Amino acid sequence: HDDYAVMGNPVAHSKSPRIHALFAEQTGEPVHYEAIQVDPGGLPQAVGNFDANGGKGLNITVPFKQEAWELVNERSERAERAGAVNTIKFDNGTLYGDNTDGIGLVNDLLNHRIPIRDKKVLLMGAGGAARGVLAPLLAEQPAQLVIANRTAEKARELAGAFNDLGSIEGSGYEALEDKQFDLVINATAASLQGELPPLPDNLLADGAACYDMMYGTAPTPFMQWASAHGAATVLDGLGMLVEQAAESFYIWRGVRPETQPVIEQLRRELA
Ligand code: ATR
Repeated sequence: HDDYAVMGNPVAHSKSPRIHALFAEQTGEPVHYEAIQVDPGGLPQAVGNFDANGGKGLNITVPFKQEAWELVNERSERAERAGAVNTIKFDNGTLYGDNTDGIGLVNDLLNHRIPIRDKKVLLMGAGGAARGVLAPLLAEQPAQLVIANRTAEKARELAGAFNDLGSIEGSGYEALEDKQFDLVINATAASLQGELPPLPDNLLADGAACYDMMYGTAPTPFMQWASAHGAATVLDGLGMLVEQAAESFYIWRGVRPETQPVIEQLRRELA
C-alpha cells in the first residue's frame, strides 16, 4: 500500500483517518492513512521523515497550515491565495501544496442545492478558516460577499486582499444592521467556545441558508440561532470535512470517491 497521514496538534480525534479508510475501501485504492501528532516547531522534520520513508502525501491541520504553506516548493493557485496548505503531494522530491478546504465547502453547499451564484453571501470571521475558503467562494460569482468580523479591521484587510476576484467588502457586525443575506457562513471560532457572533435579528433573506463550518453531536449556537431566525436550510461542517478529504484523495490518487455514503456513515458514528 501507499502511505498517507494527517499531521496536526492535537490530532488524536481527527476524523481524517476514518474518512480515508472509507474512501480506500470504496475505491479499492491501496491507501494507508494515519494520524501523526507533531510538536510545535517539528513540522519540517516530520514532513521530511515521512517523505524519506516513502510516504506519498499528507494532510496538514491546525496549527500547521500556514507553516506548511511556507514549507512546500510549489503551490496551487487556490493554496497561494489561501496562505495555507492542507494537502501535500510528494512528487519525486518536490513538495506540491494545495488547499482543498474552500472547494470542500463549495461542493457541500452545491450538494445541498444551495446556490452561490448571484446570491448575497455573508462570511463571519477573518482568520485562517475564512481566508481558506474565500477564493473558491468568489469563483462561484456571488452578487456580493461581505466579511464580518469582531475586529472589523481584519475583515477589511482580508477583503482588500481578495477584491480582484469579485465584489467583496469587510466590516464589523454592527454594519450588518438593515442588510439581508441568502447565505451566511460561520468561519469564526465562536462555536468552539459555545458563543455566537452578535447578529441582527433580520439578517436572513427569505429562503436563506446558514452554514457552520464546525460540527458536533449537537447543533452549534449559530445553527440554533439560524433555526430560530427563519433559515430554510441549516447545515454543519461535516459535509465540508468529507468533501475536502475527497478532493485531497483525488489529488493523490486521481480517483474521486463518492462522498454521500461516507458523510452518512460519519453522521451515524457521530451520534
Ligand atoms: P481560524 O484558523 O479558526 O480561523 P483564527 O485565525 O484564530 O482561527 O481566527 C478566529 C476567528 O474567529 C477570528 O475571526 C475571530 O475574531 P477576531 O479576529 O475579532 O478575534 C473569530 N472569533 C473567535 N471567537 C469569537 C467570538 N466569541 N465571537 C465572534 N468571533 C470570534
